[in-house]
Amino acid sequence: MNPILVALDVSTAAAALALADGLRGTVGGYKIGSQLFTAEGPSIVRTLTERGDRVFLDLKFHDIPNTVAGAIESAGQLGAWMMNVHASGGAAMMRAAVEAADRATTPGSPRPLVIAVTVLTSMSAEALASVGIDRAPIEQVVHLAGMAKESGMDGVVASPLETAAIRAACGPDFVIVTPGIRGGSAEQAGGRQDQARTMTPADAIRAGASYLVIGRPITGAADPRSAAEDIGRDVLAASIQH
Ligand code: C5P
Repeated sequence: MNPILVALDVSTAAAALALADGLRGTVGGYKIGSQLFTAEGPSIVRTLTERGDRVFLDLKFHDIPNTVAGAIESAGQLGAWMMNVHASGGAAMMRAAVEAADRATTPGSPRPLVIAVTVLTSMSAEALASVGIDRAPIEQVVHLAGMAKESGMDGVVASPLETAAIRAACGPDFVIVTPGIRGGSAEQAGGRQDQARTMTPADAIRAGASYLVIGRPITGAADPRSAAEDIGRDVLAASIQH
């Protein structure tokens, strides 16, 4: 499938649907995060899934296992294709999430993918140390990715610069979802904005990403559809060479 997941980082259903309707067919799916979900609620997820779109519900659940299981079950019932939890919630929480996704699966449909956030890319080594983790961020990322895999999770969200290390540690079938895409064919919106550790779409695919989360280089482009098509051609070429 097309590996581009477009981040619908807007606060109204009307703006989200205008973007999604304009891009349909040029991308693999849409990411709904806490901004849009908090503003518009579950109906925006249902509306997109009923239109046949894949929705990555990026709500990063982090709670006791029973509560996370309930949230994952509810997300699965909305028709989300992929959802996520924080790996730092622990192995029991991740196992409960995967079991809940199994329960939420409609017979005959694939189980929704459940992936883990390892270390937020906003956390520096100093910030990690301040919450009691003295490892280098990349070591903590690979450690949590391994735990996620052992707990039955389908994959992780990772910065482009972490992708190759996770791919090497967790094998070819582990899903790696990579935001922080800038430059190359994703140059349209001009510059990195607030993303510090970035990679071009083609390089992220070559580093082993399964899916690319792309927001402003597509949604902020003068012509979002043509921006998505350019990036799509680029990643297709990179995956064929890879
Ligand atoms: O507009 P841009 O391409 O920067 O959007 C990237 C999307 O990926 C945003 O929704 C952002 O919240 C999300 N994200 C990220 N970095 C992470 C995790 C998620 O940029 N480490």
